[in-house]
Amino acid sequence: MKKVILCGALGNMGKTTAEVASLREDIGIILGVDKEEVLLEDFSVVDNFSKVKKQADVLIDFSHSSVLNDLLEFCIKNKVPLVSCTTGLTKSLEEKIKRASRIIPVFRSENMSISMNFVIKICKLAAKSLENFDIEIVERHHNQKLDAPSGTALILANTMSEAKKNKRTYVYDRHEEQKKRQANEIGISSVRGGTIAGDHEIMYAGRYETLSIRHVAQSRKVFAVGAINAAIFLADKSPGFYDMSDLFG
Ligand SMILES: NC(=O)c1ccc[n+]([C@@H]2O[C@H](COP(=O)([O-])OP(=O)(O)OC[C@H]3O[C@@H](n4cnc5c(N)ncnc54)[C@H](O)[C@@H]3O)[C@@H](O)[C@H]2O)c1
Repeated sequence: MKKVILCGALGNMGKTTAEVASLREDIGIILGVDKEEVLLEDFSVVDNFSKVKKQADVLIDFSHSSVLNDLLEFCIKNKVPLVSCTTGLTKSLEEKIKRASRIIPVFRSENMSISMNFVIKICKLAAKSLENFDIEIVERHHNQKLDAPSGTALILANTMSEAKKNKRTYVYDRHEEQKKRQANEIGISSVRGGTIAGDHEIMYAGRYETLSIRHVAQSRKVFAVGAINAAIFLADKSPGFYDMSDLFG
């Protein structure tokens, strides 16, 4: 059984990950880290990485960018592999995570669902093949989400932009400039409401026809399962940077 420290243990994804882990025999949460100290039924939660005294096989992070520096320092010092799922990171934090992967194994994905990994591949192909089609992304999430656009919308946009001969510029929520759409754009719109776990629609609009590709996560559990599978995959790996394509090809 792989022993896991869960950062963001008291948040929505933390609770869901603990719930999914409790039903499995190959993984066990031994400690949580969050903003307050709590004694839960299955494990305790501390409010600072300096209070972590247990040795773990891997750390799963579903929390917030503000904890990233302390978290990386802890993982590097104790040689703990990191499954990094938190979104809304700055470019410099992303680079810091990449640098950490020279010392410890790091698995990072802004979307831990198996089928979203497949959607990204299809979108890359569609962007390449449908050269003169306008691309618009609409992402919908629950009303508690802090960052916008979603990390997944940005991955989709970056993947499709790189697949094009000429890179695309991104236009967010299309209300600030009242002018015609340019051919070199990718539009990205964010919608927030209710309990939507994650919904991404990619539309390719050509002359007289449109193609839509849509992925709907029906429960947060899909991300928890992905993170747990990534943790098991990562626990015995050498230092390096891994993502969903290493897990599912
Ligand atoms: N990669 C994926 O597949 C995926 C899927 C869902 C959510 N996410 C991301 O995971 C993150 C968490 O999502 P959530 O819905 O659980 O959010 P949430 O707000 O419900 O939970 C975040 C938790 O992190 C804790 N936290 C915040 N700052 C902290 C700090 N400085 N130190 C310790 N703990 C701190 C909060 O107290 C909270 O318990 C978000 O960035 C979200 O976008 C990623």
